[in-house]
Amino acid sequence: MTSGYDWAGRVGDVWADEWRRTDLSFGDLSAHLNAAIHAAAPRAGLAVDIGCGAGGTSIALAAARPDLSVIGIDLSASLVATARERGAACANLSFRHGDATELGDLAPDLFFSRHGVMFFDDPVAAFARLRAAARPGARLVFSCFDDIDRNPWATEAAAAITNSPPARPGTSPGPFAFADPDHVRAILTVSGWHGDPQAISYTQRAGEGPHAVDEALVFFSRIGPAAARLRELDDAAREEGRQRLRVVLADRLRNDAVDFPAAAWIWSCQAA
Ligand SMILES: C[S@@+](CC[C@H](N)C(=O)[O-])C[C@H]1O[C@@H](n2cnc3c(N)ncnc32)[C@H](O)[C@@H]1O
Repeated sequence: MTSGYDWAGRVGDVWADEWRRTDLSFGDLSAHLNAAIHAAAPRAGLAVDIGCGAGGTSIALAAARPDLSVIGIDLSASLVATARERGAACANLSFRHGDATELGDLAPDLFFSRHGVMFFDDPVAAFARLRAAARPGARLVFSCFDDIDRNPWATEAAAAITNSPPARPGTSPGPFAFADPDHVRAILTVSGWHGDPQAISYTQRAGEGPHAVDEALVFFSRIGPAAARLRELDDAAREEGRQRLRVVLADRLRNDAVDFPAAAWIWSCQAA
């Protein structure tokens, strides 16, 4: 299970509301991640999306591998409902509400995740449960953010709110918990997985179109480190913070898109 992030409640509900902007923001990363997932995926068998959110990564794999059974699992009932709606046309795809590390009698050939594995309270126990459920030789492919300092979409936006840089995140559950590959390798090794990370520099798109800055402002006011800071402020300070955030976003506007540099890891692993 997870702590701190109320995925089963408010946070999951906001992500379900914001799935279009979230998918847009991860579009460039997804091109890299989907290529890695599809390269690891068998033609047939079972693949499980850990923390599938609104289902975009599951849908992409199910469409690319019609003979593979794909199951997306998420703690948020709202996100699972959204994913089911989006994936309804895919006969080889289903979604479940619950903890993706509690798999019952499922025996996957592949686990995959876009940024869904950094929130486990006890990552060693969680990855060990996945390993115990997996078929021999199973694969595991996931993305996670690199260091916060290589992610200006997070640092610049959060700094704008209070005119101070965000605290450096540690390894407790959260978006940057898996930023240090040595830390992740240690978790994976002791829980029965081996593999390597690939460093990915990509573009995180905060908004696009004729109202790209407004789009980005809504998105960053609801999801991510700037949103977390805004929630802590009173009404007047929140409005001032939003105005400063707007300036930062406008500064990144080029050709009807608000883009930030971003960095992630894609881990490709196998059951040991
Ligand atoms: C950062 S979001 C990413 C969502 C989705 N993969 C995407 O890329 O849009 C993390 C997701 O992991 C889910 N999650 C976290 N821990 C989980 C667990 N133990 N089992 C199932 N889902 C989990 C959350 O509910 C949330 O939807």
